[in-house]
Amino acid sequence: MASLPSPAGRRKPNILVTGTPGTGKTTTSSLVAEATNMRHVNVGDLVKKKGLHCGWDEDLECHIIDEDLVCDELEDLMQEGGNVVDYHGCDFFPERWFDCVVVLQTDNSILYDRLSSRGYTGPKLTNNIECEIFQMMLMEARGSYREDIVVAMKSDSVDDISRNVSTLRSWVNQWVRAQSS
Ligand SMILES: Nc1ncnc2c1ncn2[C@@H]1O[C@H](COP(=O)(O)OP(=O)(O)OP(=O)(O)O)[C@@H](O)[C@H]1O
Ligand SMILES: [Mg+2]
Repeated sequence: MASLPSPAGRRKPNILVTGTPGTGKTTTSSLVAEATNMRHVNVGDLVKKKGLHCGWDEDLECHIIDEDLVCDELEDLMQEGGNVVDYHGCDFFPERWFDCVVVLQTDNSILYDRLSSRGYTGPKLTNNIECEIFQMMLMEARGSYREDIVVAMKSDSVDDISRNVSTLRSWVNQWVRAQSS
């Protein structure tokens, strides 16, 4: 993983944790934030709390987020740095915000079981499984950010989560050291 000094002069990096629903973004992000003393920004929760949406998607049974309002809401925090942003999309955030973009990936059958046990059925289930099969989130990340800051991480098991958190903690420490030297 590349560790370049931040052009914006942030003292702590901003990390985006993305991936298909159910791949472990929230679990991973909250542990990374705890381990690095950074801020966990759960975009879905923020949208609900602040009403940053512009309707309801009947098929996917979720709010349609207002991307401009979300970006306005987050701009100051992102300039400050030290954020672990957790969202199942990434193409509408300004590219300059992130120093590292993590795409979590889960084996299809494991993801199917996880989403079914959450009560997902019908299009909401099949769309998400297809999204994972076709690696849509990885393609979106690669299409939106510099190749050297995008990293795919397997998230099938609890051991994977521990390893990913540990990798990201080391990366943040290295980034902070590079910044202050
Ligand atoms: N790598 C993993 N190993 C075992 N269980 C996991 C793993 N990742 C996630 N889970 C479990 O799957 C469920 C969904 O995880 P989590 O809420 O972190 O996913 P998410 O990507 O944030 O989903 P959403 O996009 O819907 O917010 C939780 O019950 C969590 O404990
Ligand atoms: Mg989540």
